[in-house]
Amino acid sequence: MSNLDELYLEVIIDHNKNPRNKGELNDFTHEAKGDNPLCGDQISIKLIMKDDKITDVKFTGSGCAISTASASVLTETIKGKSRSEIEKLFGRFQNLVTGTGKEGNLGKLEIFEGVNKYPARVKCATLSWHALIAAIEGKKEASTE
Ligand code: FES
Repeated sequence: MSNLDELYLEVIIDHNKNPRNKGELNDFTHEAKGDNPLCGDQISIKLIMKDDKITDVKFTGSGCAISTASASVLTETIKGKSRSEIEKLFGRFQNLVTGTGKEGNLGKLEIFEGVNKYPARVKCATLSWHALIAAIEGKKEASTE
């Protein structure tokens, strides 16, 4: 394992142990739940969108270390972003975790690059993202299928 892989793993472990923005959000404008049909884990996202920008976001639910860390980093990453910026970012994140495209400049999201070696874990890394996209599209539920 390279030093960079070790560093990324440490950050994932930290976000799993101390997830950022985990909990309930009052007075939200959008919410949706994501299910991973492979394991039954669920993550719900609640957010406040004002003038096409996310001003606050929180998540609840439980999943594996990767899904929890991914939801935590997601909430840190998307604050202040517009719907179209988030949709583009999700496309780039999917490329990163599936290894289908060379993606750089993704900031902290790059800690999940190693997931592309484990196809079964891609749904873990994208679970909260599917819930987020469903929420901003006004849907209540998302599936990673
Ligand atoms: Fe269920 Fe990862 S094993 S979300």
